[in-house]
Amino acid sequence: MITRHLIGLLLGTEDDWPTAFTEILARLGPVPGPDGGTHAFDTERITIEPFSLRDRPRYNLVIDRLAYWYYHPREWLKKVSMMDGVYLLNSPFTFQSMEKHAAYCAMMRLGLKVPETVLVPYKNPVDNSRYAYTSARYNKSFDLDAIAEKIGYPMFMKPYDGGAWRGVSRINTPAELHAAYDASGEMLMHLQKAIDYDVFARSLSIGAETMVMRFQPEEPMHSRYAVDHAFLSPQTGTEVVTIGRLVNAFFRWEFNSCETLISGDQVYPIDYANACPDVALTSLHYYFPWAMKALVKWSVFALVTERRPRLDLETDRFFQVADDPGMSYEDKLAVYRDLADAYFDSARYYDYWSGLQARLDEVVLDWIAGPDFDQLLVRTVKSVYPEHEHDRFIAHLRGLMDLWVREETTRLGTTTP
Ligand SMILES: Nc1ncnc2c1ncn2[C@@H]1O[C@H](COP(=O)(O)OP(=O)(O)O)[C@@H](O)[C@H]1O
Ligand SMILES: [Mg+2]
Repeated sequence: MITRHLIGLLLGTEDDWPTAFTEILARLGPVPGPDGGTHAFDTERITIEPFSLRDRPRYNLVIDRLAYWYYHPREWLKKVSMMDGVYLLNSPFTFQSMEKHAAYCAMMRLGLKVPETVLVPYKNPVDNSRYAYTSARYNKSFDLDAIAEKIGYPMFMKPYDGGAWRGVSRINTPAELHAAYDASGEMLMHLQKAIDYDVFARSLSIGAETMVMRFQPEEPMHSRYAVDHAFLSPQTGTEVVTIGRLVNAFFRWEFNSCETLISGDQVYPIDYANACPDVALTSLHYYFPWAMKALVKWSVFALVTERRPRLDLETDRFFQVADDPGMSYEDKLAVYRDLADAYFDSARYYDYWSGLQARLDEVVLDWIAGPDFDQLLVRTVKSVYPEHEHDRFIAHLRGLMDLWVREETTRLGTTTP
């Protein structure tokens, strides 16, 4: 018997990864499930119309890249998750409520090395006629310089809810501090001790899998991810992976990126509430095939195993570990890793895919090395960059994808396609 599953894609303007995802799923074809039956998958781009709260959705699983910015789709996601058991890769509830600030608090409580951070009140009164009157009762005047002295320069000032570098500034002196605070207006800001780091690691997690990439934030978008396979010691690499998985298991985020700064052998997480991160071909390039495979694998696994969305956080299971005075930081990380593996059902995931991985690898290599993918690459570059840059970026991207094809061919031990 064949069970058909419909995967909905809730998208912005992007066309690149949805095409890749759909294509890979189609080429993979029906797969066996643990139930002994056969499972087939269709994908569809979702459009949101006015909806009754009792409407039944047609989708079994939805991948969303829109809800952070737009409220109508966000509320639809909450409805289908809460009422209809549609499987979502990220909990829309924690995604909305746990902005960067709450995520810092949670990870500090769990003992992670989040740099010293202070939340300061709004510089300008918010647009609410009662604000001045009310805040006069609870907002005491404070000495910004004294707070900064305690944190120590340099530091960063950044919005409590984060996202896309909006309003982020590095502050070296009291004069810069006052200028940045004056400019913050009605944005609520953190002051955070700057970490003088050796490397910046950005880990992208999709379900049970994580890719840790060397990130170069000062570079333009297309060269922010460096292709570098050994930029962390094995121990630091494991710590970075564990932190990403812990964050995701804690908040029920299964498609998220986590930013950590590494100085010597110390790992400092600074930004990890980035659910539904950018997976564009033009930014991920070499890592794009990995991301697409992971997205396919996790979606298929969730569907064939009838994985249930978990809306409750069960934070105590983590806090009990955090609060144990007999455990070191390393001990706690090891238990967090086990809790995360249990949440992601990692052993079962790898077991399920062990029988199908070779087929998926072959399908993806064959597609990426072929003409259809090249057309997608060209089309994507043309839609992202101005005309005078097309040739340069097509060549750049082709070079990186050729590198991936060569390495993957060697890894799989096949002859060059
Ligand atoms: N504590 C810090 N130490 C060093 N660099 C930082 C720190 N906080 C932020 N940055 C720099 O600022 C960038 C943006 O900050 P981030 O917290 O990631 O904000 P956003 O949520 O907008 O991505 C980071 O990618 C990093 O380059
Ligand atoms: Mg960031």
